[in-house]
Amino acid sequence: MRKIGVLTSGGDSPGMNAAVRAVVRCGIAKGMEVYGIDRGYEGLMDGAIHPMTLASVGDILHRGGTILSTARSDRFRTPEGQEHAVKVLETFGIEGLVVIGGDGSLKGGLELAKRGIAVMGLPGTIDNDLGYTDFTIGFDTAVNTVLDAVTRIRDTSSAHRRTTIIEVMGRHCGDIALHAGITGGADAILVPEVRFDMMNLCRRMIQGHNRGKLHGIIIKAEGVDMDVNEMAREIEDRTAQETRTVTLAYLQRGGTPTAKDRMLASRTAKKAVDLLYNDESSKAIGICGNDIVAYDLEEALSMNREFDMDLYELAHILAK
Ligand code: F6P
Repeated sequence: MRKIGVLTSGGDSPGMNAAVRAVVRCGIAKGMEVYGIDRGYEGLMDGAIHPMTLASVGDILHRGGTILSTARSDRFRTPEGQEHAVKVLETFGIEGLVVIGGDGSLKGGLELAKRGIAVMGLPGTIDNDLGYTDFTIGFDTAVNTVLDAVTRIRDTSSAHRRTTIIEVMGRHCGDIALHAGITGGADAILVPEVRFDMMNLCRRMIQGHNRGKLHGIIIKAEGVDMDVNEMAREIEDRTAQETRTVTLAYLQRGGTPTAKDRMLASRTAKKAVDLLYNDESSKAIGICGNDIVAYDLEEALSMNREFDMDLYELAHILAK
């Protein structure tokens, strides 16, 4: 395969640029022509496609976001849109495509794969919610962003002897909350994978206060189905602890990617290019332990994300 394209799709994540850079440079190293596609599938359908050079991806490794821009595309969700996208790729002579995105984006890639395009999916999302890979590109950076916020909030919560609820992203996955909670020393971690019990939570906060804790830090994943401000009011009523809220939202999507995310992005991108070069069928590429893995794309997207209950129990013990 000698002509490939690369696009970023869905919610952006730190490390996407590192992945784009590695696709371009690994492709060129193999004598391939690499085309950048702007604005995800929306741009693909518009023919927003341009050749990439070594210089095109200079000085982006350290930048969050994506130089190719990203978008969500309702048009592409239709069979007509998918057919049109295939025609556009054929017009450009592009035989293979690297899709960098989350669950929805890789599923979109599968629709192209079903229509004869070789698609290699890279796990580009902060959510860490793809069942076939231990980690996604952007997750580590997002966790560290939350960790920085937790450290800052600990200061002010202690100064005021307050409880603070920090709401984090992750869609239906609690991994950002879990990892930031453990590494930030949260007193409680609320995730959609574990049923929420207000009585239990308030008991933990009172126990912590009574044993001399100067503050209470609760990390709530956005997938836990309770309004964060309502939760704060209820905790205040039940514990008499002054309670504040912080919703980190899009702070978690930006920032310079960590070394771990840059390495994951670079290694998975190289694998994608190698597989396309060897005319392999469509795959989802990720990491298992320290090994880069490639699964049949459709099979990978059917794998469910196992929530790490051992890690959740550890968090519980450490927060006592
Ligand atoms: O999928 C990444 C993510 O940041 C989720 O964690 C969050 O719920 C969602 O995107 C927000 O979507 P949007 O950027 O479309 O508001």
